[in-house]
Parts: sequence; C-alpha cells; structure tokens
Amino acid sequence: MFRNLSLLPAVAALTVAVSCSQPAPEISIIPVPQSISVKSGVFKVPGATVSFDAAATDDMGKGHIMDFASKLTSVTGKPSPVQESLSEKGFSFAVDPTLGSEEYAINISSKAVKVRASTGVGFFYAIQTISQMLPEAYFAGKSAPSEKWVLPKADIQDKPRFAYRGMHMDPCRHFFDVDEVKKYLDVMAMHKLNRLHWHLTEDQGWRIEIKKYPRLTEVGAFRDQTIVDKNFDPFIGDGRRYGGFYTQEQIKEVVAYAANLGITIVPEVDLPGHMIAALASYPYLGCTGKQFKVWERWGVADEVLCPGKESTFEFLEGVLGEIMELFPSEYIHIGGDECPKTYWKTCPHCQKRIKELGLKSDDKHSAEDYLQNYVTARVQKFVNDHGRKIIGWDEILEGNLAEGATVMSWRGVAGGIEAAKNGFDAIMTPNSHMYFDYYQSKEIEKEPLAIGGYLPIDTVYSYDPYKGIPEEARHHILGVQANLWTEYIEGNTHLEYMLLPRLDALSEVQWCEPGNKDFDRFKKSLERMCRVYDILGYTYSKQVFGEPGLPGHEGRVD
Ligand code: ACM
Ligand code: ZN
Repeated sequence: MFRNLSLLPAVAALTVAVSCSQPAPEISIIPVPQSISVKSGVFKVPGATVSFDAAATDDMGKGHIMDFASKLTSVTGKPSPVQESLSEKGFSFAVDPTLGSEEYAINISSKAVKVRASTGVGFFYAIQTISQMLPEAYFAGKSAPSEKWVLPKADIQDKPRFAYRGMHMDPCRHFFDVDEVKKYLDVMAMHKLNRLHWHLTEDQGWRIEIKKYPRLTEVGAFRDQTIVDKNFDPFIGDGRRYGGFYTQEQIKEVVAYAANLGITIVPEVDLPGHMIAALASYPYLGCTGKQFKVWERWGVADEVLCPGKESTFEFLEGVLGEIMELFPSEYIHIGGDECPKTYWKTCPHCQKRIKELGLKSDDKHSAEDYLQNYVTARVQKFVNDHGRKIIGWDEILEGNLAEGATVMSWRGVAGGIEAAKNGFDAIMTPNSHMYFDYYQSKEIEKEPLAIGGYLPIDTVYSYDPYKGIPEEARHHILGVQANLWTEYIEGNTHLEYMLLPRLDALSEVQWCEPGNKDFDRFKKSLERMCRVYDILGYTYSKQVFGEPGLPGHEGRVD
C-alpha cells in the first residue's frame, strides 16, 4: 500500500504534483511501485556523481549503473562522473543483502539519490523507475540541457507481487528477427517483466537450429506460401515462400541479451501436436511416414508425432538436449495443447503401445488421451533428469499428470484453478484476459485483421489472478503472462501495436498489489508512457484514448 496516504486524495493516486520553489515533475511510473511517498523539494541531476561499491556489486549491476551515468552525461549536457566507492552525494548504488533479488529502495533527498538492492536486477529495476521519473528526453539519449533535470524528493520501496512475469512471443506463424526480439525484450524489461516464453516450433515453421536434426531448419523453417487473410475454404494462398530461423549463435546472443535485462527465456517445443514442420523434415516421426508440407494455413492439424515409435522419443530427447544446452531456464515448455488423436486411433504403433501400457478408455478419457499422458510423463522425466522442470498448456491436466509439472492455464482460468487445487503450480494466461492477438477495439474496420475476440486494455487491467483460487492454494500461482500468437500479424509494426499498451496493463497485474491498482491513475501515466514509445519508435494502440486503429493496416474485416 502507499505509505503516504495523505497525498492520495490530492491527485489520482500517483500523479502527484508537489508545490515548491522549483516545480516538481509529475510521477507516472508503470508498473507503479508498491510504496512511494513524495515530499516537497527536488534533487538536481546534472553533474551528479554516480557511485557504487565495486567490490560488492555484480557485473550486471555495474554495467547498468555505468550505462546510467553515461546516459545522464549525454542528456543533461554535464558530466556525471562514476566513482567506484560509495559517496554520500549524488546517485549511490549500495548492495543491501537484506532485500529480495528483484527488490529495491530509493531515497531521494536534495543532496543524494540513495539506491539499495541486493542484485544487479534490483539496481536495473531501480534505474527503470528513476528513468520514468526523469523528463522523457532521457529516452532520446541526446543532449537536452534544461532546468527540468530534477527528481522529486521521495521514498520508494518496491518489489514484485508475482515471481513469474511473462510475455509470450510466436515467431513461427510469422518470423521476427533478432533485432525485433531484442526490441520486444527492451520494452518488457522497462516494465519489469522477467520471462519471455519463446514459442519456437509450430506447424507453420520450425525456428531454432538443432545440430542433430539439420532438416528441421533446412526444410521445416520454410513454407511454400501462406494463407491470405481467412480464405480457408476455398483456400487462397499468397504464392510466396516464407520462413526463417535462429541459428544457435543467435539464440545464445538473445539469451545473453535477455539475461542482462533480468529476463529468462523459457523456450517452448510444442509436442506432440503442432508438429507438421518437423514431420515435413523427418516423415518417420509421424504415424504413417507420409511426406507432409510445412503448413500453409492456420488451425489445429490432425498430423502429430507418433508416440508408438521409440524413434519419436529419440528425436525429442535429441532436440530437448540441445534446447537445454542453449537455454539456462529452470523451466522448459513442452506445449501439449491441441493434439488430435485421429491418427493414433488407427496407427498400429500407437495401438501396440496402448496395449503394452495397458491403457484403457473410461467415461472421461480415451486410451489415446492417456497415451498423451505417457508422452508428457516420458518427456518430463527426461527434462527432470537434466535438472529442469516442465511447463505445459492446460491440456496436460487431462487424465493423469505427474507431480512437479507446471500448468499454463490458457482456456480461461479453469485449468489454473484445477491445477492449483490439485497441488500443481500454475501460470495464468487465460484467453479471457491475456490473449493479445484479440481485437482491442470494437471498431474492427479500423483495426488490422485479428484472430477474433475482444480484449481492450481495461479488461486486461482488471484481471485478478487469484479469482477462484482457494486461499490455501494461492501459493501455486507462480504468476501471469500474456500470449501473442501471430497468425494474422505479419510484421513488427503490427506486433507492437497488439502488444502496446496492453503490456503496460499486464505489468501492473503482475507487479502491483491489488490495493495499488487504479485504472484512472494508470491511464494518466500511460499518456507519458506513450510519449516515451514515440521517442523510442514503438507502435502502440491509442484505443484507450478514444482513437482505435492502426492507419495503413485497417480494413481487412473478417
Ligand atoms: C494455445 O493458445 N493453443 C495455447
Ligand atoms: Zn502412431
């Protein structure tokens, strides 16, 4: 809760203007800190020393502190010298081991800005907060000398509500290159998100180089053409070959870039469904051995991996082994969604496996459903044997799920509630509140074509991750994530438009205690954030300000 409640009635929550000899800047930080009290008076930034304890500060912290000092020098026009021992004046960054790994505190007086954190991530988050308190020109990075380079005297204590604060990216339906992924990570980090769920394999394209299986990218990363709009039947394709993939060197570069922003990348290999690109590369992975083409349309395909054959598991272990080498994440996402059992029902290999395992249909599930449980459990064991844990979409709950799996609730909140009640950890990504591929205004003739749905920013903001979760099971809710599938999103401009500013709302759902959430204060803060987006070259929706639509992309109505 805000500590200085006396300030609250003056202006909606945190947009606080304090009267003093020098006008204090408005404060509009997203996500809003857990506790902030603003006093009268300011700290003058130009020329302030930036100090830290070189022996105690980790490399990530040092890097961000030094970058901050050089940015201040650039924008204020006055050098901010760096000092490698703590000073009583200017900006000081002190290691305080009593704080949590993502926690920080900032005390701003007229003489000093004292930052405390226990890790480089904490210092990075403190710098994100300070940068949102400075004039927007900070983000332009160019010299802009002015008397406006001040910070209001204030006390800030801050830490996240949820440990897992994710955003998902689908470079399979449409591809986004390394620079675009980095730009996505940058805006996530500004909002203190800490997980990128990177969906790297799909029917329409396999996007990560696997040395043991080169055809996955030679063949599986490219499709001959792509469906035009929603012309499923009769099918109309655009006739243009399309594709791309990340080399392992690029993956390492992105993983390191994200880590420096406090973001862990959770890779997803979606199995056993959504695998046509792999089947096109290695037809023996399917039930029939038939050659398929990398899919040119969207939807749920009947062609899936054959769990009757041992060679399928050898393949999955080969792929996941390389994935675990590349990604240090504690969690590996193994998909599990939307896997039709059509082929399994008649496949002699699958039926033999069902018989051997003694799997039987019952009134809730078919023997083939239980066969998917077998796939999940075998892959889970392999992942666990390598010291990692699995996440799967909520379909993995159907039938039997082995202890230690984490469930990603996407078909609404029911999967997350069921998982938590049954002792499984869950990450909430319900399509009722967290599917950023849905339309964000009702004036869809002004909007770029979308998959459907309607998810305006205030609905995202209103999400309560604990709704329906019994109090004693709430510790199983690790956090919240939004998903951004890209069937209808052809390029980065459109991708950012779907992401922003709904990401801002997501960040407050993930970071803020419920008592600190206030849509009016948030909306006011968004005005400034959108000016920052203009400076940084991000595309965003203005629907929340009554201006829906993305000029140049409108008019493709379902
Ligand atoms: C999903 O949206 N198929 C997880
Ligand atoms: Zn089979």
